[in-house]
Amino acid sequence: MSSLSIRLSVVLVVLSIFWSAASAVRSSTLHLARSPRSVSPDAGAPPVTTWAATLAAQLAADAARLAMLASSGPDILQNAKRRRHRSFVPIAPGRQILSIPNYIARARLGTPPQTLLVAIDPSNDAAWVPCTGCTGCATASSSLAPPFSPTQSSMYRPVRCGSPQCSQVPSPSCPGGVGSSCAFNLSYAGSTFQALLGQDTLALETDNDVVVASSYTFGCLHHVITSTSGSSMPPQGLIGFGRGPLSFMSQTKDVFGSVFSYCLPNYKSSNFSGTLRLGPTGQPRRIKTTPLLSNPHRPSLYYVNLTGVRVGGRNVPLPPSALALFDPANGGTIVDAGTMFTRLAAPVYAAVRDAFRRRVRAAVAPPLGGFDTCYSYNVTTTVSIVVPTVTFVFAGPVAVTLPEENVMIHSSSGGIACLAMAAGPVDGVNAGLNVLASMQQQNHRVLFDVANGRVGFSRERCTA
Ligand SMILES: *[C@@H]1O[C@H](CO)[C@@H](O)[C@H](O)[C@H]1NC(C)=O
Ligand SMILES: *[C@@H]1O[C@H](CO)[C@@H](O)[C@H](O)[C@H]1NC(C)=O
Ligand SMILES: *[C@@H]1O[C@H](CO)[C@@H](O)[C@H](O)[C@H]1NC(C)=O
Ligand SMILES: *[C@@H]1O[C@H](CO)[C@@H](O)[C@H](O)[C@H]1NC(C)=O
Repeated sequence: MSSLSIRLSVVLVVLSIFWSAASAVRSSTLHLARSPRSVSPDAGAPPVTTWAATLAAQLAADAARLAMLASSGPDILQNAKRRRHRSFVPIAPGRQILSIPNYIARARLGTPPQTLLVAIDPSNDAAWVPCTGCTGCATASSSLAPPFSPTQSSMYRPVRCGSPQCSQVPSPSCPGGVGSSCAFNLSYAGSTFQALLGQDTLALETDNDVVVASSYTFGCLHHVITSTSGSSMPPQGLIGFGRGPLSFMSQTKDVFGSVFSYCLPNYKSSNFSGTLRLGPTGQPRRIKTTPLLSNPHRPSLYYVNLTGVRVGGRNVPLPPSALALFDPANGGTIVDAGTMFTRLAAPVYAAVRDAFRRRVRAAVAPPLGGFDTCYSYNVTTTVSIVVPTVTFVFAGPVAVTLPEENVMIHSSSGGIACLAMAAGPVDGVNAGLNVLASMQQQNHRVLFDVANGRVGFSRERCTA
């Protein structure tokens, strides 16, 4: 057996495990591969075992994702400093740097500041960081900053039980009674952990300054309760950019007016060449927008009205109601940057895939794990496969047409490319949900303008 076939078998096994975890929404990092046109020195692929372990863990973590996405409550405004100039935060894929599927930014927490590489998650609200003495948190290594030390910060304040913020976290508890520190339990990426709620100065590094929010409310992790092996939990913490009261956008509402956008670099990049733009200043003027929808059952998430899909410019016939928001139960379409591969409700995916297959003239390859539409090509000739464009049509109408780089994923060993989307689960609470994921958003600017109730898309190259 050649090393190629060994690698492919491992891929198949691991991806099969993943895809059978069908109740999950969040997809995962797949170790892939350079596209035949890429010139980046991407050769040093991690060993298969490392990759397989990482992948399996991340995939297993998917099931935990949706449970934590719900939150509600009034906005809390923090006394952040008002800034009028543009605030562009450099972001990078966390895959190369931290082995996580999220995009990351450099944050400074505390006074004096302690630097952390935090995940930016638009589908979560609460922020959390590992704190000194945390049991079960990733152990410090040379590549990781030490955990946050509240005692080294002159500004850190615990949030007490009975405070409004304590009622906004999931599963709050007050082991020491009213007046003691507010504790809460949270699940993320296959891990469950306990944190103490606190406040401190938070800064996100920007290209020209740092954006400061004083008294930012976040969870200080002190105990990881359960963790699947190789969990893809962000090792240096996370800042939620969802729509709930504890999210970054809510805590800085008086500064940034509930507006942000991002441009996600290619997941293989390791440079901070993407940007997270905060506030209305510096957002693209010419951008196609579609109304932002809400789902009261999942108030943190950014829903849009996907009304159709085109393949090669032609409408894909879809069952009526297949794209509707609550039909069947909790359907609809969300935009997420922590899921890597778009998942379409099963009947939608089947129709899109069939239309796609009809338009491709290439040697069909066996399914690669969860990807069921794969083709082989001759790597030495550097001629890739010609595939049709895929267009998502949103209410407006707004059409977002994806080029090959957002549609096909190339295997790390080369010679095989697959349609980088999959069907969602056929039953359970997430059946019917469509998730537009990061691979399909790469090198686009995606605008979340909550203030004006709209989501925008435009092409923008942000990969260095
Ligand atoms: C949080 O987790 C701890 C440790 O497992 C457990 O003792 C506690 O009951 C949990 N609290 C809540 C509110 O679920
Ligand atoms: C790939 O193309 C090259 C150049 O045309 C050819 O020599 C080689 O045999 C091809 N390989 C396969 C596996 O078809
Ligand atoms: C989505 O858009 C379609 C077509 O414009 C419209 O009929 C439908 O009511 C919209 N759904 C929601 C939830 O806004
Ligand atoms: C990333 O940045 C470094 C330093 O600026 C540069 O040398 C490298 O070529 C960049 N990598 C890519 C893939 O652009």
